[in-house]
Amino acid sequence: MKKTIFFLVSVIVLAACSAKVTMMSESDASRAAKKFSGTTLANLNEGKTNYEANCGLCHGLKKPDARTEEQWKSIVPRMVNQVNKKMGKEEIDAQEQQNILAYLVTMGATN
Ligand code: HEC
Repeated sequence: MKKTIFFLVSVIVLAACSAKVTMMSESDASRAAKKFSGTTLANLNEGKTNYEANCGLCHGLKKPDARTEEQWKSIVPRMVNQVNKKMGKEEIDAQEQQNILAYLVTMGATN
């Protein structure tokens, strides 16, 4: 039984890690850092995870390239307020908001 649980946990962890690795790379992180100084690959992955977990609660998830950088910069803070109001607490803090914005802007652009 213990072995089975260990095996299942390993499969889940491996699947989660490989999904992240194939999604975004260090080159995305360095593109991100040009616009959002100090952004790491971990920040981008957190942004993606948070975006997917919180931003589809009321409507479908938009693709990062569905909006321009300028649009995301005004939409994300407004929508983070929506998330925090809905959850009744500070679900997304300032750092997480920045991660979401960096993820959307970086993956929505090629430069
Ligand atoms: C509590 C519900 C709720 C949550 C959670 C929510 N949204 Fe929204 N969102 C809305 C509503 C309502 C609208 C349409 C009215 C408006 O634009 O304010 C909208 C509109 C949008 C639009 C289109 C607006 C435009 O001007 O193009 C985008 C893009 C968007 N949301 C992104 C997000 C992102 C990113 C998150 C997560 C940070 C998020 N939403 C979380 C309710 C929500």
